[in-house]
Amino acid sequence: MYQRELEALKRANRFRKRELFDPNLKDFASNDYLGLTSKKELLTNAYQKVYSYPINAPKASQLVNGYTSLHFEFEQFLASLNRFEAGITVGSGFLANLALIEALVRKGDTLFLDEEFHASGILASRLVDKVVVFNHNDPKDLKKKLSSHSYKRAIVAVEGIYSMSGDLLNPEIFEVAKEALLIVDEAHSSGVVGEKLLGVFDLFNITPSFNHIKMGTLGKAYGSYGAYILASQEIISFLENRAKPIIYTTALSLMDIALALEGIKEINSNLSFYKQEIIARQEIIRSFGLEAKGLIVDIPIKNVVEVQKRLIKEGFLVGAIRPPTVKSPLIRVIARVGESKEDLKRLLRCLSVKN
Ligand SMILES: Cc1ncc(COP(=O)(O)O)c(C=O)c1O
Repeated sequence: MYQRELEALKRANRFRKRELFDPNLKDFASNDYLGLTSKKELLTNAYQKVYSYPINAPKASQLVNGYTSLHFEFEQFLASLNRFEAGITVGSGFLANLALIEALVRKGDTLFLDEEFHASGILASRLVDKVVVFNHNDPKDLKKKLSSHSYKRAIVAVEGIYSMSGDLLNPEIFEVAKEALLIVDEAHSSGVVGEKLLGVFDLFNITPSFNHIKMGTLGKAYGSYGAYILASQEIISFLENRAKPIIYTTALSLMDIALALEGIKEINSNLSFYKQEIIARQEIIRSFGLEAKGLIVDIPIKNVVEVQKRLIKEGFLVGAIRPPTVKSPLIRVIARVGESKEDLKRLLRCLSVKN
């Protein structure tokens, strides 16, 4: 039924396939920035916490009876850690962006979306009436577009660190969007930047205000799965009432919450260690003439699939990212704390970047 489309994807070199990679490869591809997913003691602690809880799983939506004290305590913990009024957990970052955009952009409102915003936001933008795309990370273009459109509410959506380019959010966007509702997707910045490794609010020392929304994921630096939204009590209450990916879905699993909590506690208790490890890797990356605002390194190369295969033979796994995910192909290296600095240097040498 879809044979012709599949053939066309193959011809365009865009065909994708899941692979069972050798788990012994040095992992420079995944989003487990701090290497928490291999710390078994975090899993043991999380397991014990869930084991001592009367139920194993939430059983229902948060709006029925799937909301447990584990969800409640975790939300409170995240909100107070990040200095937001309130929070809510969501099944995944993809669902969280869908929830935010579909629910908050009402009739008469306009969504202003960074052109490099994650696919979840692009998909969600198809569900709303009016969308304006602004130039990537460009406060001037956003300002121009905010003033040249009329709307009831403006909702601006940006990322803390952009997932593909690795670009750090331009802090001027906070100023330009001060009259708008600002959604900051911190999937790749939480656990990676900031004084307390909390992300860009922390890095730019921005006190969260009623117009700020922070979305974060648990499946990246926090070494678990799921997501959370932090905002004013009013926004969280509105989402509970209107966001379909929150209302009509089973609450986030207890095991994922317990594991994420262990991950965040691990980071908080070893903050200076993780910060030093991040800085050391950024210095290595810069010594190769490359840029690193977080831990994502992009190397534009044409034949990414072949390069990825060659690196696998050398024992390294990297991301081979192709259109339509990005405009032109690139090798995406995640300089994870989970792999050694020596291996990072060896990998960058293999990529034959000048030292
Ligand atoms: C910027 C960004 N937002 C959202 C998501 C989705 O998060 P999740 O994997 O939890 O669905 C991702 C994940 O790839 C991402 O990179």
